Amino acid sequence: MYDIRCLTCHRIQDKGGTYAPNLTFAGSKIKMNWEGEFLQAPDIIRPLSQQMPKFNLTEDEAKAATEYLEKNLVFKDPLIDLYKDSPPTAEIIASGEKLFYEKGCNTCHAENITKGGGVVGPNLATVGDRLQPAYLVYHLKNPQQANPQGVEPNFGLSDEELKQLVGFLMDHVKKKEGK
Ligand code: HEC
Ligand code: HEC
Repeated sequence: MYDIRCLTCHRIQDKGGTYAPNLTFAGSKIKMNWEGEFLQAPDIIRPLSQQMPKFNLTEDEAKAATEYLEKNLVFKDPLIDLYKDSPPTAEIIASGEKLFYEKGCNTCHAENITKGGGVVGPNLATVGDRLQPAYLVYHLKNPQQANPQGVEPNFGLSDEELKQLVGFLMDHVKKKEGK
């Protein structure tokens, strides 16, 4: 990661740039299959931010960077995964969808490629492929924990609401694009 100068843009603990998302806990946040593909062919996640450049990494280089993140850039205490034992039911997903619009998440986020939505926050159409379920819980409990300057309000979600929204977001995977 030093060779390829990831830290000219990204920050890890107190080193590096602030131009791109902080990677200090990327290993607890990002799904590593997604990460490997992203490093070889970066995609636009945050519509308004700069894009990550294409480095033409080989599969092996992408794998090495990914393994580094996965092993070293993690929270000391593992995050709580509400869905470790069983995936969200269709009922939970439907309640989560309702909440997403009731709470106004759609004013800042698009949750679907075809229907549109806000562009202030990252596009969430395939967030289930990109982010770990436990990280979704961590983020939604208090969006400022990971990014103190972030504009996402703390909705003070109840445990039930949290579970529904996370179930809904986990269901956003590529095979469902354009549903
Ligand atoms: C020229 C600046 C730049 C360099 C160098 C760079 N990145 Fe990025 N990276 C970005 C930007 C900008 C984004 C956000 C893209 C978006 O949201 O659309 C990003 C996003 C990411 C993400 C997703 C983070 C998240 O929380 O969503 C990961 C992981 C990542 N980069 C890893 C790396 C690694 C590993 C390297 C070194 C091989 C690297 N980057 C080098 C600019 C850079
Ligand atoms: C006022 C605008 C705004 C609202 C409303 C909002 N968000 Fe966000 N959200 C953001 C921004 C901006 C980020 C990106 C923070 C960052 O890049 O560090 C974000 C990040 C996220 C992320 C993490 C994405 C990532 O890659 O880091 C998720 C998941 C998310 N929001 C879900 C939601 C849900 C669910 C709601 C409704 C309960 C919601 N947001 C409401 C602006 C908003």
